Amino acid sequence: MACAPGSVPGPLNMPRRKAPRSGSRAARLTPRFLSVNPMAIITGASRGIGRGIARRLAMEGWDLVLNYARNEAAARDAAEECRHEARQMGREVRVEVFGADIAEGSQRESLVRFAKTTFAACQLLVNNAGVAPVVRADILDAGEDSFDRLISTNLKGPYFLTQQVARWMLEIAGPEKPPATKVVARIVFVSSISAYTASVNRGDYCVSKAGVAMLCKLFAARLAEHGIHVFEVRPGVIATDMTGPVKEKYDRLIADGLTPIRRWGSAEDVGKAVAAIAQGFLPFSTGEVINVDGGFHLRTL
Ligand SMILES: NC(=O)c1ccc[n+]([C@@H]2O[C@H](COP(=O)([O-])OP(=O)(O)OC[C@H]3O[C@@H](n4cnc5c(N)ncnc54)[C@H](OP(=O)(O)O)[C@@H]3O)[C@@H](O)[C@H]2O)c1
Repeated sequence: MACAPGSVPGPLNMPRRKAPRSGSRAARLTPRFLSVNPMAIITGASRGIGRGIARRLAMEGWDLVLNYARNEAAARDAAEECRHEARQMGREVRVEVFGADIAEGSQRESLVRFAKTTFAACQLLVNNAGVAPVVRADILDAGEDSFDRLISTNLKGPYFLTQQVARWMLEIAGPEKPPATKVVARIVFVSSISAYTASVNRGDYCVSKAGVAMLCKLFAARLAEHGIHVFEVRPGVIATDMTGPVKEKYDRLIADGLTPIRRWGSAEDVGKAVAAIAQGFLPFSTGEVINVDGGFHLRTL
């Protein structure tokens, strides 16, 4: 969506005014309710796919809360990169970082409290943070510790974080239901082709992502009447730290035709898909799956 430099995209009918420079005296003195850009919370935004999504949204003029688990230096670097990318597009955005383990209830609450005290509203939640098993173990040997870790981080975290943020979105929207044409906010779940692909050496990961696919349907059904639309973005093989340890295996598989589009996906590919949702280009869709997988999901004969 084309926007004048220094203004914000229009899908949420936000005012087109110039934001104070992030970190400037004006920004510090600006009460939170005067924030002029739409705002997104992105979990796991210090690295990989989350960072790619953050970078793209910053370019589109979104204020951001970048969540991370442990790697504060990477999160601060991602925030600086976002501000830079926005400036390159003639925009000023406010980007904050906040460390919170989304598997932990108290830390999820801290994250939401921080967002609420820093910004007036949240127009987009991107549930991206996720982990792979430390050791890929055959489903006949796999242990409970890994199962609990993956379910807590990949499924329980987004389930309850979405519950909290959706309540905030509803508070902001007020008691009146909006007209069916109005979109108040959006929620994205980053799942995986593992939501439907059986990999017997990481059953815990597959089960967690299949659950995420259901989360998208559940929240989509619950929130549509309130003008909140929900999407599942389903990446295939994407080059990040997560896939670093299996790079050679996937190099071979991709060269042999694993995906009709014969290349690795990038965090930027996923960022662009989320930006299309964020910009409001799918106004009559909710509960929808957006495959970002080079065509992996196609059946061919
Ligand atoms: N890469 C792929 O091929 C691929 C394919 C399909 C789906 N996905 C999904 O895409 C998402 C991102 O994957 P990625 O490849 O970008 O992974 P990554 O490179 O390993 O980055 C993971 C990000 O999540 C954060 N994180 C991890 N555990 C967290 C927790 N408990 N609380 C908050 N943040 C946490 C990390 O923060 P720190 O920097 O602080 O550790 C980091 O920012 C995951 O849900 C993954 O399952 C990835």
